[in-house]
Amino acid sequence: MAPLKRRVVLVPYPFQGHLTPMLQLAALLHRRGFSITVAHTRFNSPTTSNYPQFAFAALSDGLEGRDMSFYNALNVISEMNANCQASFREHLLHVLEEEGEELVCVIYDNIMKFVDVVADSLNLPTIVLRTTAAAFMHSHLALFDLAAHKRIPLPECELELPVPNLHPLRYNDLPLHPTREIPESVQEFLESYMNIRSSAAVIWNTVEALDEWPLQQLQRQWPVPFFTIGPLHKMAPPLPTSLIEEDTMCLSWLDKRAPGSVIYVSLGSMAIIDEDELCEMARGLARSEQPFLWVVRTSLLNGSDAIASLPGDFGDVVRGRGLVVEWAPQRKVLEHPAVGGFFTHCGWNSTLESLCEGVPMICRPCFADQLVNARYLTHVWGVGVELGSVVEKGVEEAVRMLMKSDCGREMRERAAGMKLEIERCMGRGGSSSESLDHLLEFVDSL
Ligand code: UDX
Repeated sequence: MAPLKRRVVLVPYPFQGHLTPMLQLAALLHRRGFSITVAHTRFNSPTTSNYPQFAFAALSDGLEGRDMSFYNALNVISEMNANCQASFREHLLHVLEEEGEELVCVIYDNIMKFVDVVADSLNLPTIVLRTTAAAFMHSHLALFDLAAHKRIPLPECELELPVPNLHPLRYNDLPLHPTREIPESVQEFLESYMNIRSSAAVIWNTVEALDEWPLQQLQRQWPVPFFTIGPLHKMAPPLPTSLIEEDTMCLSWLDKRAPGSVIYVSLGSMAIIDEDELCEMARGLARSEQPFLWVVRTSLLNGSDAIASLPGDFGDVVRGRGLVVEWAPQRKVLEHPAVGGFFTHCGWNSTLESLCEGVPMICRPCFADQLVNARYLTHVWGVGVELGSVVEKGVEEAVRMLMKSDCGREMRERAAGMKLEIERCMGRGGSSSESLDHLLEFVDSL
């Protein structure tokens, strides 16, 4: 009799920064012999034709016509969790009936709470994939502690103070500003986000050497096995993950630039800035006199077209030196020898992708984990410079500092060292590669 096919069902949260690592994990498990199904919402559905090796199941998310912006995220999450449950259950029942197959477990993004509810009711084990750093997850405990001791709202003057037992974070770096009351709906969401329910284990897209202490602290909260197998974009075979079409022409533009001369600028897939900041960034980049490649996503401004909102003379001022694109093949850009620095919002994927290529960063965090990541980049790993202010002069100075000064050169050297350290963790006997082996043994034992 032919051996049973061992299938894993993976359920991503349908936004770029979460979808990417889940697809990478799927590719990694597929390479290790598992059959893969990705159960996804119709909203931001992955381009299924890119992955002939996977099966897909579209869930009825009921999100058509909804406001999918960051500001409406909590409502969307709650609707998605209510709406997807029935079709997910139907899908799992269907897989369970397949002959010659064994459904081993479901791996899901912890925001998709319905997954654990359904899997539990069918006696199927689940594993959580955490797509952020452990340091970010751990920082929530400080927020809960402040709330429990009725210390929110915290006075402005305390923002710069260190959070006890949470080095290197200040109150200012917590994922939510403690100077404002936390609405009940947000508090409830965070508590549920920090609860892994009945899941059997947690997979982390992080590297032990970067995140060791927060991982140890969280292990006390969640007494289940942790598998630290990041950075997934390097551990997995390469695969396309972009939800937006990439402008690959920028790679030939980079081919013509001197090594280490270009600053790459991108604020990821979700961050929104205002028109003033966009124009200050444009003028600062122009004044820095440094070559730059800038991703100006259409949705970077709330409501208006970002590219059309750039200062009128911007194109003329930076002609030949700067290139603006709507979306770049970021991993290839960061690997390119012409790129010497990354002006980033410090999303966790961007952070890992930059660290893996030894590219130092200018940190302009916008929300949530980005604040925590930025603090680690600037104050623990020493490979990032804080953007002092988003006005033109602040941008100009940060770019010059990173790209031209001795301080920038030292950061580049440290970044090169971190790249090697991460490679060691991924190599034979390294923490990520060993953890992956343990994960596979664990999944086999389920
Ligand atoms: C979101 C959150 O904002 C982030 O803080 C969290 O850590 C993950 O979810 P996002 O803002 O998109 O993600 O940031 P990030 O995590 O950096 O992910 C962006 C991804 O888009 C990266 O993998 C990056 O390579 C890719 N990207 C970005 C492109 O492929 N092209 C671009 O032009 C810009």
